[in-house]
Amino acid sequence: DHGLTFLGIETSCDDTAAAVVRRLSDGGALILSSVVEGQAELHAAFGGVVPEIAARAHAEKIDHAVEAALSAASVSLADLDGIAVTAGPGLIGGLLSGLMLAKGLAAATGLPMVGVNHLAGHALTPRLTDAVAYPYLMLLVSGGHCQFLAVEGPETFHRLGSTIDDAPGEAFDKIAKLLALPQPGGPHVEREAALGDLARFRFPRPLLDRPGCDLSFSGLKTAVLRARDEIIAQKGGLTVQDRRDLCAGFQAAVADVLAEKTRRALAAFPAPVIAVAGGVAANGAIRARLQAVADQAGARFLAPPLKLCTDNAAMIAWAGIERHLAGGVDDATLSVRSRWPL
Ligand code: KG4
Ligand code: ZN
Repeated sequence: DHGLTFLGIETSCDDTAAAVVRRLSDGGALILSSVVEGQAELHAAFGGVVPEIAARAHAEKIDHAVEAALSAASVSLADLDGIAVTAGPGLIGGLLSGLMLAKGLAAATGLPMVGVNHLAGHALTPRLTDAVAYPYLMLLVSGGHCQFLAVEGPETFHRLGSTIDDAPGEAFDKIAKLLALPQPGGPHVEREAALGDLARFRFPRPLLDRPGCDLSFSGLKTAVLRARDEIIAQKGGLTVQDRRDLCAGFQAAVADVLAEKTRRALAAFPAPVIAVAGGVAANGAIRARLQAVADQAGARFLAPPLKLCTDNAAMIAWAGIERHLAGGVDDATLSVRSRWPL
């Protein structure tokens, strides 16, 4: 009994990814390979992901990514038990590249094909990395997403709250742009913030005055923009220290909001584990705050390795395996969805 081995394919945003994951019969997981071919350099000059450029890059890279994943895992198509592919949400052009390849492979091999919701991939990652049992609480914080999910089964998610405007990663990227820092902005803003005075600017903590777990980040971005423009109007430009202080004030506001909303989510859904996923989970200051909130609630805080927090195909292969074990399978009529809430 070799368990179940799935190929995963992920092309929903700006990473072309393929991976081979095996679920052992005892429920354990092995990531046999995980290939991520990024496109950041193609989009950097535009200050965001350009859909046409992403679509073309996925079409060019996906065959190679799949071959590389199979070869790094030392498996052939004949060793697979199924193919999992991201069917949404995301950019249609990229999603189609992945789905067309998955359909072709499934038709050629007779393997079952399982369409996966990208967000379910993130949400099930704690089971792949740490064999976390249901139910648990999940905070997705990336460039495109921000939501609290109660995860109760491979296809049972309850959204406790989500952003009503921007995602926090998007806010980090916009702040970086305002301050002429490179993209993607998160790591740069974090580095500057570490050298800044977080007491100099007191930016708003949006929606903290309202009950519940919804979040908002666009007003915060506007407040930073206004503070920046005031300094420029007064002094003609920003000093290195101004930039650091603005980053520190911004990051402190994001961290406060995420910490308080996480506290409320844990109160509403007192799970033994709170896990994070998404690029913003890389932020050390934010992680430390979430860890403290979890400690206080008596919950375990889990941050999977960064490579599995950000977009990858191992999480898609795993979510496909879990969905398949629950009876899920798709056929050639599967189509992609740009919007697909969990
Ligand atoms: O999950 P991810 O790789 O891609 C998606 O958005 O799906 O997340 C990327 C986002 C970017 O907005 C990036 O600026 C942000 O995560 N990010 C960070 C940090 N590292 C990456 N934000 C804050 N602090 C960081 N250290
Ligand atoms: Zn993602």
